Amino acid sequence: MRTKIVAGNWKMNKTFEEADDLINNIIDLLKSENLSDKAVIICPPAVFLELATDQSFDSEIYVGAQNVSRFESGAYTGEISASMLSSMGVDFCIIGHSERRKYFLETHEELAGKVDQVLKQNISPVFCCGETLPERESGKHFEIVRKQIEDSLFHLKEGDFEHVIIAYEPVWAIGTGVNATSQQAQEMHHYIRSLVREKYGDQMAENISILYGGSCNSKNAHELFANPDVDGGLIGGASLDAEEFIRIVQSF
Ligand code: 13P
Repeated sequence: MRTKIVAGNWKMNKTFEEADDLINNIIDLLKSENLSDKAVIICPPAVFLELATDQSFDSEIYVGAQNVSRFESGAYTGEISASMLSSMGVDFCIIGHSERRKYFLETHEELAGKVDQVLKQNISPVFCCGETLPERESGKHFEIVRKQIEDSLFHLKEGDFEHVIIAYEPVWAIGTGVNATSQQAQEMHHYIRSLVREKYGDQMAENISILYGGSCNSKNAHELFANPDVDGGLIGGASLDAEEFIRIVQSF
């Protein structure tokens, strides 16, 4: 059975003290939860990753980064390599978030390079895909998502692909308060799983976790997560409050 995952993407939020409090509160609240079939991941800004991995040692949470360099090491001022992440105990890394595609012009090819870098360090990529509103309105959403996945993930060999998590995040749902309906999410997740099936076979398709992201909160998580192809969520705004985040974890 595939793992159910709730991952919090803090984006560029929180000061050091606030991050410290939020991590502690999440860890405390999770102590009374039964997480046997679920994984909870927090993805704080890079400067707080060490804080997060230190505090999460011996706890129920995993730590993920929000970004990584596509280069291995060397003269790339400001970049953070996959081996640095790995050496800090980071287990996951968001790759291809629409905010990085939009503001930092990350291309499919560059994202493929980032995926390769993290996999070499045994870090699982949480690969984001999703269409904009005009793309959906013109009926191109399936085609857009297919291209994003094919161009950045389908070069992987089976042994690597099995560590990939996919997050479907329709751009029009991110930070807008307008989540995809349960039906829209299920339809796209089912499609993504069918792409994986075509390329890698039944077992891979059954095992891959496909998360939904975009205005997901404790009010809509239960309905979204109840869909057969929705294996959890990648949560932005609602992950910045410990109680709200835990309510989402409880929504399975
Ligand atoms: P919101 O939950 O704030 O809409 O953000 C979703 C997201 O982008 C998670 O990566």
